[in-house]
Amino acid sequence: MRLHCKINGENREAEGVWEGESLLYVLRERLELPGSKNACEQGECGSCSVYLDGSLVCSCLVLAGQAEGSEIVTVEGLAGEDGLHPVQEAFLEAGGVQCGFCTPGFIVATHDLLQRNSQPSDAEIREALAGNLCRCTGYEKILDAVRMAAGRAGPA
Ligand code: FES
Ligand code: FES
Repeated sequence: MRLHCKINGENREAEGVWEGESLLYVLRERLELPGSKNACEQGECGSCSVYLDGSLVCSCLVLAGQAEGSEIVTVEGLAGEDGLHPVQEAFLEAGGVQCGFCTPGFIVATHDLLQRNSQPSDAEIREALAGNLCRCTGYEKILDAVRMAAGRAGPA
């Protein structure tokens, strides 16, 4: 099939797509968007998180055929023309990035959380990020990054 999507604000097409391959595969291997990471391919780690029509999803669990005609935002789409998104800056400054494999997923999930709740409690942060796994940081620096990003955004 030929897949048509709007990705990070641009109309994109991919040729020769099998309906059953994952959206993650399409993004990484067909559309040159390697920001979303493939760490488990089973919906367990959150490293492939993207927005699909405004909802946070694991792109490894979305079939390419399901994504036809959809609007997708990946971690690459969060940065603006002026540079990194404040959530991305906070992860760098707080030291929430080590190997970086989990980072795109945490950033998209944090972006989603702060859109819904600009001043989350620690419990709300932990709940929102419960689907994202990190093998390196011990999570404390990631929590610091989310608090930093929320603190800079201020109350809604
Ligand atoms: S790669 Fe999709 S959840 Fe782990
Ligand atoms: S920074 Fe390495 S898995 Fe999280």
